[in-house]
Amino acid sequence: MDWKIRKNEYNQEKIAEDGNRFLIGNGYMGVRGTLEEYEKEQLVAINLAGIYDQVGEQWREPLNAPNGFFGFLEIDGKPYRLPAETPKSHFVELDYRNGICKRETCFRTGRGDVILTCERFVSMKKVHLGVIRYRIRANFHADINLITGIDADVWDINGPHYKRISMDEESMLNISAVSEEKEYQVSVVADERTEFPCEKRNYQERLKSLRIINFITDINREYCVDKFFAVYTSKDTDDCYRMAKDEVLQAVAKGYETLLSEQKEAWEEIWSNAEVLIEGDEKSMEALNYSTYHLASIAPRHRKSLSIAARGLSGQTYKGAVFWDTEMFMLEYFLMTNPSVAKTLIRYRIDTLEGAKKKAKQYGYQGAFYAWESQEGGFDACSDYNVTDVFTKRPMRTFFRDKQVHISAAVVYAIARYIEVTGDQSILEEGAVETVIECGLFYYDLLLQRVGKEGYEIHDVIGPDEYHERVNNNGYTNRMAKYTFQVAVQLMNQVSDEDKIATAYPLEELKKKFEEAGEKIYIPQPNGNNVIPQFDGYFDLEDTTVEEVRSRLLDPKEYWGGAYGVASHTQIIKQADVVTWLAMFPADFSKKVLLDNWNYYEPRTEHGSSLSACMYALLACRCGMPQEAFPLFMKSASADLQGGGKEWAGLVYIGGTHPAAAGGAYMVALKGFAGLEFQNGKVYVRPNLPKHWKSMKFKIMYQKQQYEIEINEQKTEVRAIKKEAL
Ligand code: BGC
Repeated sequence: MDWKIRKNEYNQEKIAEDGNRFLIGNGYMGVRGTLEEYEKEQLVAINLAGIYDQVGEQWREPLNAPNGFFGFLEIDGKPYRLPAETPKSHFVELDYRNGICKRETCFRTGRGDVILTCERFVSMKKVHLGVIRYRIRANFHADINLITGIDADVWDINGPHYKRISMDEESMLNISAVSEEKEYQVSVVADERTEFPCEKRNYQERLKSLRIINFITDINREYCVDKFFAVYTSKDTDDCYRMAKDEVLQAVAKGYETLLSEQKEAWEEIWSNAEVLIEGDEKSMEALNYSTYHLASIAPRHRKSLSIAARGLSGQTYKGAVFWDTEMFMLEYFLMTNPSVAKTLIRYRIDTLEGAKKKAKQYGYQGAFYAWESQEGGFDACSDYNVTDVFTKRPMRTFFRDKQVHISAAVVYAIARYIEVTGDQSILEEGAVETVIECGLFYYDLLLQRVGKEGYEIHDVIGPDEYHERVNNNGYTNRMAKYTFQVAVQLMNQVSDEDKIATAYPLEELKKKFEEAGEKIYIPQPNGNNVIPQFDGYFDLEDTTVEEVRSRLLDPKEYWGGAYGVASHTQIIKQADVVTWLAMFPADFSKKVLLDNWNYYEPRTEHGSSLSACMYALLACRCGMPQEAFPLFMKSASADLQGGGKEWAGLVYIGGTHPAAAGGAYMVALKGFAGLEFQNGKVYVRPNLPKHWKSMKFKIMYQKQQYEIEINEQKTEVRAIKKEAL
């Protein structure tokens, strides 16, 4: 395996998909895998983490920075740019071991050929920095203008976001832009280094700060131009322009080679904890490590409190918002490979507790109701009309925001799992206990008791399967509420009398209430066929097939859920729901029940969300069926490698990378195939490898100790290797 993916042909139809596939990132910014000459029409984006802005009444979304990678070639006075030109040859390659994206294009001109090679990365060591090396070679005396610059005419879904743009007449290229709503400043400064005779001239075009580098080529000689740019925003510093300038000056002084070796070192450090070696199946090994490359590229290492959006740093789709994806699907990867990132993700939820309390209050509830689509401060970006109907072009009333109450339990799960896996209790003093109590209070307030019935119920919710809205007693939701009560009691038991929480909350009373609620909450049980109803009345819905439901669509972009959705009145579900519950809590039922539910629900699942396949794969492993798990694992691991996922929900574009699927694939590999488990401070593996996997080797962190795990046909070994602070 060479840790590279490569595409040899040029295909305009795949511009959006390749933008995701060849993405590079460092947690601060994500740069879509687009070509240097591309502009907003080709969905170029330097997507910034955790900084949002709103234009008018449109959806608030993260900012894209002015593009410091912008540049193109003029040969003998004529521009040569894709997609307008047809290249003689072309390839794009991502070295995902080192986070480096390379393209090489041969342009045929009337006088000969010119080859342009660009190699670029965003520094993992200096997260504000982007670096690119251009190499140009011609087989004739070409008159070359390399036009390089910064392009502030950026791609926006609900923009344009910059109301003021300024460029200083300085020797360095620069653009400072001020955002519409919050007046955030984003400054980008760029400069380059050339070591051959050439003429340079700066100029400005509308929204672009540009430089022409002119030279005449010797035949077959290579000309190298190294460009460096830095991005700072007013969320980083009060003086972002100066900081960006300083960063570029330092980068120019260091030079490309040094920055490149720093980049490789930083990525080696990541892989030294994160690589998963699989013998006997290169494809799986590539798909899995490529998936986790994406997780590592979007991990917030530069801040103490920040989370990851559902589409990572691949653009503004899903409003750059944080969903349950982070806690339930991505967290495990960070716990195993870099627990301090896991803590950063959790701190984001603790720090947005006020937002969650506000949202609960808005709906008339106590406690913390976390945002379904969380942005800065826990603001819920999810609108009441989150899908546009393809027929009427009208926004449809959706209930994700108000009814997907299982989100708060995901936060509780993350906290409890973090404590269990890291052994780090410090999070409790940073607000984790309050967070869990407030989530408990929220679920407590949702409980209903029907006259003449035992037990508490939760009505009018949406479970993970979004196609069925406003259902009663969704099994997953009730089970997660029960879990929340239990974790809350457990954490309250750890609080000492002197603790300020002991004065802020009536702990004894709450413990009693939550204990009782945890015992009495109604958990749907298997029917005569061992199958658990996803919600009350689920089995009364039309029992049909995914193909049949698909054949009823009048438009391929039509939304399957909602009032008139083709799936709403059927048992066809969007994604793992009961199965997510069982994959998480396999001890709740016998293996036979797990298996019967898998067999019932799998054929009834559209897998219309990239969060689905991994949960089925995980449960298949729990049922001792690694062969059934394998294709679902590959589906999850290949979500971005293969592309082809859903790009539309109604008329809303939802394309981008799929970090939850990546995290899900990682969980299947470790928890499913390797059978990794922790019990009472010990690490266990109960392997369940697919038949053709000869061996598996990986490292994990558990309670401040790193372990190396090796599974092969002869032996299964768990070796403690080094102690590590968080
Ligand atoms: C899924 C959700 C998920 C969201 C973001 C939706 O399509 O149904 O479960 O959280 O996408 O990935």
